[in-house]
Amino acid sequence: MENKKISLLFVCLGNICRSPSAEAIMKHIVKKHGTEDTFIIDSAGLYGGHAGSLPDQRMRTHAARRGYQLLHKARSVTTNDFSEYDLIIAMDDGNYANLQSIAPTVEARNKVVRMADYLEHYQNDTIPDPYYGGADGFENVLNLLEDACEGLYKKQTKSNI
Ligand code: 4NP
Repeated sequence: MENKKISLLFVCLGNICRSPSAEAIMKHIVKKHGTEDTFIIDSAGLYGGHAGSLPDQRMRTHAARRGYQLLHKARSVTTNDFSEYDLIIAMDDGNYANLQSIAPTVEARNKVVRMADYLEHYQNDTIPDPYYGGADGFENVLNLLEDACEGLYKKQTKSNI
């Protein structure tokens, strides 16, 4: 029996909209399956300007309507994250390129993946930044993240448990 935990770090720009939502949705999924002891799940941002803050109020409101409480405090991605986590999951292509450029080793660079690659029902190739848009953008993010988190969970549990 494999005892090693699967560690996942969700990353967006500000760490106040997309990645803390992904973190909460993934934690909800592993809890639903009773596998929370198998996973380490966190989120971080590439822009540190919101460090220490709770997620954006709009994101919190939309997430709460679906039963997700967003309590993460924003933090920046660190070099250490690249050794601590198995997968560093980028929300969009800008995040992906930025993470690849700061990854300290080739092994670290290979841990960086795109969230949209785990979508099962939606065709999108990115999880779009909702920050400067309206309510639809926040709902869209949640729809995409619920789909991608299910896909990611299936992929991880198939290959690791
Ligand atoms: P996030 O959204 O990357 O999904 O957390 C954003 C939050 C803040 C900013 C941009 C995107 N910002 O420019 O402050």
